[in-house]
Amino acid sequence: MTGQISESKINEVREQTDIVELISQYVSLKRSGANHTGLCPFHAEKSPSFSVNSARQFFHCFGCGVGGDVFSFLMKIEGLAFPDAVRRLAKQVGVELEERSFSPEEELRERQRERLYRVNEVAAAYFHQLLMEDPLGEPARKYMKIRGYGRKAAGEYRVGFALDSWEGLKKHLEEQGLAADDARTLGLIRPGKQGRGDYDLFRGRLIFPVYDLSGRIVAFAGRVLDDGKPKYINSPESPIYHKGRVLFGLYQARQAMRQSGEVLLVEGYFDQLALYRAGFPQVVATCGTALTSDHARLLKRYVQRVVLLFDQDPAGKKATFKAMTVLQEEGVPASVIELPRGDDPDSFIQRYGADAFRDRLEKARSAMDLFIDDVLAEAGNGIEQKVRAAEQIVEQISGLSSELEQDLYLKDLAQRSDIDLEQLKQVKRKVTGRRQQQKNHYSAPLPEDYPLPEVPFAPLEGGDYSAPDRQVESKTAWSRSEETLLCLLLQNYVDREKVIAAGGLSLFNHPAAQDVAQTLLAYSTDSGFDLQSIIEKLDPDKASVLMALSGCDQGQFSENVDVIFTDCLKALQQEQNKRQREESLNRIRQFEQDKDTKNSNDLLKEFTNLK
Ligand code: UTP
Ligand code: MN
Repeated sequence: MTGQISESKINEVREQTDIVELISQYVSLKRSGANHTGLCPFHAEKSPSFSVNSARQFFHCFGCGVGGDVFSFLMKIEGLAFPDAVRRLAKQVGVELEERSFSPEEELRERQRERLYRVNEVAAAYFHQLLMEDPLGEPARKYMKIRGYGRKAAGEYRVGFALDSWEGLKKHLEEQGLAADDARTLGLIRPGKQGRGDYDLFRGRLIFPVYDLSGRIVAFAGRVLDDGKPKYINSPESPIYHKGRVLFGLYQARQAMRQSGEVLLVEGYFDQLALYRAGFPQVVATCGTALTSDHARLLKRYVQRVVLLFDQDPAGKKATFKAMTVLQEEGVPASVIELPRGDDPDSFIQRYGADAFRDRLEKARSAMDLFIDDVLAEAGNGIEQKVRAAEQIVEQISGLSSELEQDLYLKDLAQRSDIDLEQLKQVKRKVTGRRQQQKNHYSAPLPEDYPLPEVPFAPLEGGDYSAPDRQVESKTAWSRSEETLLCLLLQNYVDREKVIAAGGLSLFNHPAAQDVAQTLLAYSTDSGFDLQSIIEKLDPDKASVLMALSGCDQGQFSENVDVIFTDCLKALQQEQNKRQREESLNRIRQFEQDKDTKNSNDLLKEFTNLK
């Protein structure tokens, strides 16, 4: 079924679904007063902080802060997009969704996508049958056997074989009455040069289908059966395939990933197969591409940490540190398993077996640790080089989301490099200051006409300064007034202009609240904010926060919205003043520690003014 689902249908599904019943399918819940409680399925815990409120149809975890309604729960636990969560629940509770239709262009695009899936499906069946049954598939069957795989694995992954011929697939698709145009769009067949006919992309190769999260085939990878080059060919990007957003094996691995809270990230298709079969089913591979932040966000839906298993050569090292940085930006800790030089996970398992691998997995080191070692080793003992190296490392450490972790690594670095800790802290303050100025921590794109607020705490001229705490993602909750203000905005009780006039984003103190506010302001139009139309555009984390907010008690706004709004502003201003005073005070302390009397005097003045 395609199309958009109307708001009223969504509400109907939400109302018909019993949240306790739904969540009980995943979590064992106990009644306690008005709530049900249990162990949070989204983070590891020993005592229950996960609570479900059946009256308000909400869940919330006091441990990790996730929460929302039936849809956000299903999205998170099953890794579904919003509309798919709605569709699934609708089916369960028997609500008929007559979906609002697409515009003609959307309709065309959607129909094309459906055709493309179909072509891939037919192609996969064709390749698979050649591998499993056809006499011509013998060389590929032999190759699979050499690599240690029989019919079972081939069946599970639907591995296939492409004949060593120019028109095998092309003819087959023709016979099935499928349009050559679609096969061309998928890159499965290519237009011949100089008026010659189309020809197959994959020839004489073992074929791995690549699945999306719904189990549909979006692409293929083909490996030569000998030492020919290129070793692998991958499907090009298409309307249904973006390699930066797809991970090989995720469809099969996600259950195990959620259970173990970790994922092993490998480079090769056969590495994925090998680990999966050896009893490490929490494994995925990138499809011949570097890890992207889309990948990182995707992984974050399922796991709390990523174990990197890249090649043990300089290129692999580089890829490891690049992936570490990408993951770090998404707040996902990365560790690394080192294998003997020349081995990849597949060859390691073949050679030393699963237990040896488990051993290595238990000994996985933090990627940052390895990075520090590596950069220092490269630098050698020269003073100049060592300082450069330390700077490079501090830069990387500054990107960690936890302050505590940053501190620990700085100490570690001080020890290992013999550089004074205070010196390193100085460098870090500089780096952090620069980072904050560059990033300004506004991530989503804003409409052109959107007025950016002044940065409330601009760095002081001259002095080094630590980034104010407010810009560091903190786990504490946003304030009541922040929440109320967000609800007002989300439910269109106050309009965008009014909030912007009152200070826009700078009204909010908590980074998460600021983030939501930014989304609301960015997507509001003259006619207000339409949750339904934008929810599909947001990544699931954002969407679920908005959905949770959309359920906030509207009764409280029934009268006197203006009064509530003004009260909120007042309270927020007070909170902000308080924070600002605390921050000044901290900076004064810092400067005093650094014996910087000029700056601390200036700050003292600022502080008194604030008071
Ligand atoms: P490797 O060259 O390390 O190969 O490439 P591998 O995975 O060990 O392959 P096997 O074990 O010999 O079959 C790692 C990954 O890089 C991508 C593929 O995703 C491959 O699995 N790659 C490699 C390509 O896309 N094209 C190539 O030509 C080579
Ligand atoms: Mn290999």
